[in-house]
Amino acid sequence: MTVKNQNITFDKLDKDDQIPYELLLLADPSKELVDEYLKQSDIYIARQNGETLGVIVLFLLTTETVEIKNVAVKPELHGQGIGSFLIENAVQVALLNRQKNICIGTANSSVGQLYLYQKLDFEITGIKRHFFTDNYAEPIYENGIQAKHMLVLTRELNDE
Ligand code: ACO
Repeated sequence: MTVKNQNITFDKLDKDDQIPYELLLLADPSKELVDEYLKQSDIYIARQNGETLGVIVLFLLTTETVEIKNVAVKPELHGQGIGSFLIENAVQVALLNRQKNICIGTANSSVGQLYLYQKLDFEITGIKRHFFTDNYAEPIYENGIQAKHMLVLTRELNDE
């Protein structure tokens, strides 16, 4: 992992802890959808000296597959390897739970995220056409492209 400063912890959020909506809404602008999947998900936090650096949300899609529903890092800390740290730790959680696949969905317009996930050995395995136009009230634009479809990327865990 490429996290510059290594004393970063990765822990499951306790039920009584405050939910880091500010971060979660960076990855998913719909609080309604976030609240819906949080009901059945585990939230993990990357922390350093008590400060929350990033968050990742894991949802059991099937008995064999866990989905990363949301991953977000504090904007001022982007590009330092914390997103990769969160995803690699999520892979370790999935392996411990004997899951066979870990997947993540992102928009056709999320060019940087598509780069990051493929660099971390996720491969495109599906497309949910019109997911963003059907499920979000306002149009979403990134990199000058409208977010219309969700691309699903999967990393197989069999060989790990
Ligand atoms: N645009 C361009 N490049 C990016 C982006 C981006 N949005 N995100 C990551 N990268 C690249 C980095 O430049 C870096 O490249 P390098 O290794 O060649 O230098 C590489 O991906 C690794 O990045 P990290 O530093 O590990 O990732 P980071 O800590 O920046 O976190 C994250 C990535 C979580 C996507 C962060 O940019 C973020 O919080 N974005 C806002 C929320 C978001 O879009 N979340 C994902 C939505 S999809 C979902 O949640 C299921």
